[in-house]
Amino acid sequence: MTEDVDFKKMMRLKLDYINGIPFLQFICKNWEKIWNFQARSDDLLICTYPKAGTTWIQEIVDLIQNDGDIKRCQRAPCHDRVPFIELMTPLSFKSGVEQASEMPSPRVLKSHIPIQLLPPSFWEHNCKVIYVARNAKDNLVSYFHFGRMNQGMPDPGTWPEFFETFLAGEVSWGPWHDHVKGWWEAREHHRILYLFYEDMKENPAREIRKVMQFLEKDLDEKILEKIAHHSSFQTMKENPMANFSTMPSFIFDQSISPFMRKGTVGDWKTHFTVAQNERFNEDYKKKMAGTSLTFRTEL
Ligand code: A3P
Repeated sequence: MTEDVDFKKMMRLKLDYINGIPFLQFICKNWEKIWNFQARSDDLLICTYPKAGTTWIQEIVDLIQNDGDIKRCQRAPCHDRVPFIELMTPLSFKSGVEQASEMPSPRVLKSHIPIQLLPPSFWEHNCKVIYVARNAKDNLVSYFHFGRMNQGMPDPGTWPEFFETFLAGEVSWGPWHDHVKGWWEAREHHRILYLFYEDMKENPAREIRKVMQFLEKDLDEKILEKIAHHSSFQTMKENPMANFSTMPSFIFDQSISPFMRKGTVGDWKTHFTVAQNERFNEDYKKKMAGTSLTFRTEL
């Protein structure tokens, strides 16, 4: 039993820093290759803060690009269909950079990199980016449960401990506030479609239409309905190509917390104490002062 616990602790990656931003050590060690990533002008980059709905938007994009053909979207697990440029493909141990370089165009790529550290080649090629933001409190809760189940992430500790770690921005990919603000400001100068998790929950069809427009795809209403159905939480939860059940349990231990956990807005209310909520709000107001970026579920 003790040996098992030690083994699990050993597997968990630690954080290091790139320009003051904490990242998993794997990313720091490979930073030169990541920074020199060669984008192509027809790449589509999906960028998010971790746990903001990355897998959801990936599935929507794949369904749109494949005209709603479910079978084609089940050709491989989501992490093989969309290379994660700063990490590696689970099991093959290929880096995301390598996986992407072997892929034919047009590619869809995934990243959680904050704007200031995005490999410059994406800007040089004027690539399209879809960014999804999720309200900070639910994002924090989802990140906590993900850290518990993902044995490759730093141990999140207890809920009160992770709450503080998150507020301090000492989590992989850095502080939530700077991430969402940075990408928000950049949308004025780049081809960025900025979406919100809460909007996607409220009206999936409306948000899918925005993605279709951005991708210049004109699909009829029937296909759109089909896409909305196949990218719904329940359907994705049951889809082995989207629910990460293909990942071995020594990496993603879904008995601790499933990858497709709750998929709701407002789950923070079942986690935050009154004192935590007050502390969070005070900190949030300071860090979000002066931005035009607002969330539907603001505080
Ligand atoms: P919860 O932990 O709150 O359930 P990411 O893909 O960025 O890692 O984000 C994972 C979060 O998005 C999880 O949140 C997961 O349940 C949620 N999610 C994934 N697919 C979803 C869908 N189709 N609809 C709503 N939420 C979804």
